[in-house]
Amino acid sequence: MRKPIIAGNWKMNKTPAEAKELVLALAETVKDADCDVVVCVPATNFAAVKEAAEGSNIKLGAQNVHFAASGAYTGELSADMLKACGVEYVVIGHSERRQYFGETDKTVNLRTKAAVAAGLVPIICVGEMKDEREAGYTDILVEYQTLMALHGLTEDEIKNVVIAYEPVWAIGTGLTATDEQANETIGVIRKAIERKYGKEVADTVRIQYGGSMNPKNVKGLMAQPEIDGGLIGGASLKAPDFTAVVMYNK
Ligand code: PGA
Repeated sequence: MRKPIIAGNWKMNKTPAEAKELVLALAETVKDADCDVVVCVPATNFAAVKEAAEGSNIKLGAQNVHFAASGAYTGELSADMLKACGVEYVVIGHSERRQYFGETDKTVNLRTKAAVAAGLVPIICVGEMKDEREAGYTDILVEYQTLMALHGLTEDEIKNVVIAYEPVWAIGTGLTATDEQANETIGVIRKAIERKYGKEVADTVRIQYGGSMNPKNVKGLMAQPEIDGGLIGGASLKAPDFTAVVMYNK
């Protein structure tokens, strides 16, 4: 069976000192978690988080990666640079990057391939806007985003990828997809992977839900058969909240 994975997405929050304090607290409170635990933090916090997470079950993640190995890309970080800092996971194609920074399905694919080639686990974000759901385009949109992101990877590589289904209207809004909506759309994503890459791949790849997931709604969402974890924004910034999400089954 698929091991759940719960990842915090800190976005543009926390200084190194604040990061250290949070991760030291979490190292105690999430140590008996049954899921994989990841914190995706600003690059300025890599060193502090790595040190604070030492000896714990908390893994370090980044929030983006460039697709070139090196060169004239001011402000960007390569996959090898992330690896060298102890990063193991990287969020790719978050809706905020798609909305505010011109991220496209094509660049998501390039970043995904670079991450995989370097041995990083990509957490690829897909999801529809409110008007797209209302117009009935959710399924074809998430299928397209997912298959475009995975294009060119081998079946074995895809098995190791994490997908995060994040309806854009649910991010940071306090609105959550219902348990059934989230389960259904994640099922659609899994079916699309199955059609293209076969059942074994589709049954192996982990697909998270993200969008205002919190201590109150985590149990219901995680009880759904298709949902293999969460990508947590707001609720990952405070130790008690993130602990409650990660320890949802305790
Ligand atoms: P949220 O963010 O939990 O604050 O809605 C989730 C995300 O953007 O990954």
